[in-house]
Amino acid sequence: MSSAATPRRIRRGVIARAHRFFTVTAPGLEILGAEEAQAAGLPPPLVLPGGFEAEGRLPELYRANLTLRTATRILLRLTALRATGFADLERRAACFPWELYLKPGCAPGFSVTVHRCRLHHRGAIAERLQAAIGSRLAPAADAASGESRQRIWVRGEGDRFQLSLDASGEPLHRRGLRRRGAAKAPLRATLAAAALRLAGYTGEEVLLDPMCGGGTLSLEAALIAKRIPAGWFRSFAFFDWPAFRPPAWEHLRRLASRGFRILEAPRIFASDRDLEACRLLAESLDAGGLGDAVEVACRDFFTLEPGEVSAAPGILVLNPPYGRRLAAGAPARVLLRAVVARLRKRYAGWRVALFAPQAFAAEVAPLGLNRHDVVHGGLKVGIFYGTLGGGGRPQGKAVPQS
Ligand SMILES: C[S@@+](CC[C@H](N)C(=O)[O-])C[C@H]1O[C@@H](n2cnc3c(N)ncnc32)[C@H](O)[C@@H]1O
Repeated sequence: MSSAATPRRIRRGVIARAHRFFTVTAPGLEILGAEEAQAAGLPPPLVLPGGFEAEGRLPELYRANLTLRTATRILLRLTALRATGFADLERRAACFPWELYLKPGCAPGFSVTVHRCRLHHRGAIAERLQAAIGSRLAPAADAASGESRQRIWVRGEGDRFQLSLDASGEPLHRRGLRRRGAAKAPLRATLAAAALRLAGYTGEEVLLDPMCGGGTLSLEAALIAKRIPAGWFRSFAFFDWPAFRPPAWEHLRRLASRGFRILEAPRIFASDRDLEACRLLAESLDAGGLGDAVEVACRDFFTLEPGEVSAAPGILVLNPPYGRRLAAGAPARVLLRAVVARLRKRYAGWRVALFAPQAFAAEVAPLGLNRHDVVHGGLKVGIFYGTLGGGGRPQGKAVPQS
């Protein structure tokens, strides 16, 4: 029994009311992400395992997708239902007004996790939910609908199933910038954003990224310096929601674009000893229109003098090679010791964010920095941050955990 999603029902049922939305973050970025949302004036976040939750209207959910740099994806909470049998699950799910959230003929994908539920076959849960949704939606107007980018996230816990609709689509660390070449061990943009935040980077300071590789840190810093939102170059799953109104979205983008800046001279200095990496980064910057923010040079970190980029201390972000693929075990430790010695000798007063495996904490200890734990490429990694010769977190307030 499909029900018609009239504009009036969509307005009343979806557009005119507040929703709960859950922002998923990478492990270790929950509090940092909530702080970022708070600083951006988004609805007050409640930190939970795996992210943070907030209540707001659709434009706030759109703005969170457009602007949040440390978020992985944003889910719109739809409903929670209790079910101990498949017939229950399908019947209860069919009572939800899916037609207000999905277009006719939409066949969403499913991501299902279950814990302590009598229903535990994830494929069968998805099938029953698909049948319930299908019973509510009218057929598609045209046959050529292609693969849907809509996805329902199902989280079963103790026979209670929380159903959420993915607003983001592609994970938010995909910024939509055209990147040239395949870097050796690229950071995710969300981790780069976290490191920049921990170092207190606002877009005004001189920033040095002397082992830049593919340049994730410098590209993210360039967006910040030019006041370009994280999601400016990409699209989102919510574009295909029946409640999506392009004029409201265009209004948000227009407001954001008023802050854009063209920089007279770059204050971000990216370098690497790998000439090809530098060349590709310069191309990526040009392709994104970010060339005014970053100067790229092929240099060895150990011969580069900080005075060449700035007379006064600035911010240094460092992602040296480590881990299984790049410089496993002993060579990585030796390199890290040399990096630490160089930082102590030449970079007093600089604020720093340095990525290193947590297992190498002893190597980094002489710098007296704070450590923020994250996971990168399956490795437990620390972002070591603070002021060299000083220590302490440069800025940011803690958000209380729930
Ligand atoms: C882990 S990768 C950086 C990845 C980068 N953050 C990204 O997201 O693409 C480490 C980089 O350090 C560079 N590197 C290693 N030793 C160096 C040195 N002595 N001077 C400059 N660059 C160096 C490597 O060429 C490599 O590109």
